[in-house]
Order: sequence, then C-alpha cells, then structure tokens
Amino acid sequence: MKKMLFALALVGLAWAEPHRHHDFKDVPHWVEAFEEKSRDAWQKPQEVVDWLELSPGQVVADLGAASGYFSRPMAQKVGPAGWVFAIEVEPGFFPPLHQLAAKAGIHNVATVLASFDDPHLPDESTDLVFICDTLHHIEGRPAYYEKLKRALKPHGRIAVVDFFPERDIPVGPKKSERLSVEQVTKEFEDAGLEVSSNLTLLPYQYIILGQKK
Ligand SMILES: C[S@@+](CC[C@H](N)C(=O)[O-])C[C@H]1O[C@@H](n2cnc3c(N)ncnc32)[C@H](O)[C@@H]1O
Repeated sequence: MKKMLFALALVGLAWAEPHRHHDFKDVPHWVEAFEEKSRDAWQKPQEVVDWLELSPGQVVADLGAASGYFSRPMAQKVGPAGWVFAIEVEPGFFPPLHQLAAKAGIHNVATVLASFDDPHLPDESTDLVFICDTLHHIEGRPAYYEKLKRALKPHGRIAVVDFFPERDIPVGPKKSERLSVEQVTKEFEDAGLEVSSNLTLLPYQYIILGQKK
C-alpha cells in the first residue's frame, strides 16, 4: 500500500510541475514516473490506442513523447509498414525511449528533436498527431496548430488526451494548469478542425479529436 501511494505521488509530481523549459531535465526521474506500472490502470493505453482506430502503415507523431509510453502501443498498431515520430524538446528522453522500444521488440519509432514552438514535422507527413498531457506546455497554440495542420495529411487528425480540470484526482497537474474540454474544443474549432470527443473512456482524462477538413 505504501509503495502504491508513493508511486501515485511520484506520478502526480510528474505532472504537477509548472511548465518551464527545464522541467523535464531530470530524465531518469520522469521516465520512472511516466512508466510507473500503476499508471496503466487509469491511463488504459491499449484502449486509447484502439479507440483511435489507427491502421497498418500509418504515420503517427507522438508530441511530447517522453519515455514513449504511448509511442510503443501506437507503433505496434501501425505495424512495421508504419512509423511513430516521437517528438520531444528534451533529447535526454531519446536513449531510454529507444531502449524501452527495443526491449519490446519495436523498431518503427523515430525520434525528432523539436523546438518549443515547432514540432519539426515534414509537410503532409502525418496521419495522427497524438498529444498526451503535453498541450498545456505549448504556448502560442493558434500558431502551433497551423504548423500541426501543415504536417497532417489530408483528413489527418490531432488527438489530445488530458486531465479534466474539474475533477479531484490523485494525478495530473494543478487544476489551474489543466485545459478544459470547452477550451480545447474551441481552440480546435478556431483552428478550423472538425471536433469529436470521448469523455467516458478514461476516469481522469478526456480525449478530443480534431480532424483536418
Ligand atoms: C507530462 S510529459 C508527457 C509525456 C508523455 N506524453 C506521456 O504521456 O507519458 C510532457 C512532455 O512534453 C515535452 N514537451 C514540453 N513542451 C513541448 C513542446 N513544445 N514540444 C514537444 N514536447 C514538449 C516535455 O519535455 C515532456 O517530456
């Protein structure tokens, strides 16, 4: 029980830090937090990835990939003919990300070093941009969405998984730092995306999809 509470506190801390550029410099600490086994129970990575209905051969960008917690199941879903671009501003995550992927027998994850204001993705390269617990770190989002849209193939999608601000939950950033469903929906609509969502799959988080028209 003590170990479980410690793990929850660690994961909570991982998201509780304010979003400054040096936030994630202590890579071993964050890898341990993001890969913590108890996360699976509420994060349900396989169910999230299944819900996204990815197809073999597709290209996915995991924006703010960190240890690749979501890159790995998405890479398995798109298969050897597909790719996951694991996009990060903190290059210290790349060695553990590659090691964890290789350990799972996954060889279709490529790392991309991003800037804070640019994912550095080629134009029309990507079927899905996946953003878990990272959107609130991005400043100047209207301009950033334009860059993401350019990177999407026709009818490509952006998926955001993030914490409900109004719920009392044992993990995640401070309520004041969380983005609401209404805010992300409005931002996506303003960006000219067609919006849909799943508000019930996960206990602590919503999923919002924005599709390029
Ligand atoms: C809370 S972690 C999310 C980790 C991962 N998505 C997961 O679900 O396990 C946020 C990550 O986003 C990265 N990040 C922050 N701002 C970013 C940006 N503008 N572009 C790409 N990555 C960014 C951080 O370095 C950090 O690894």
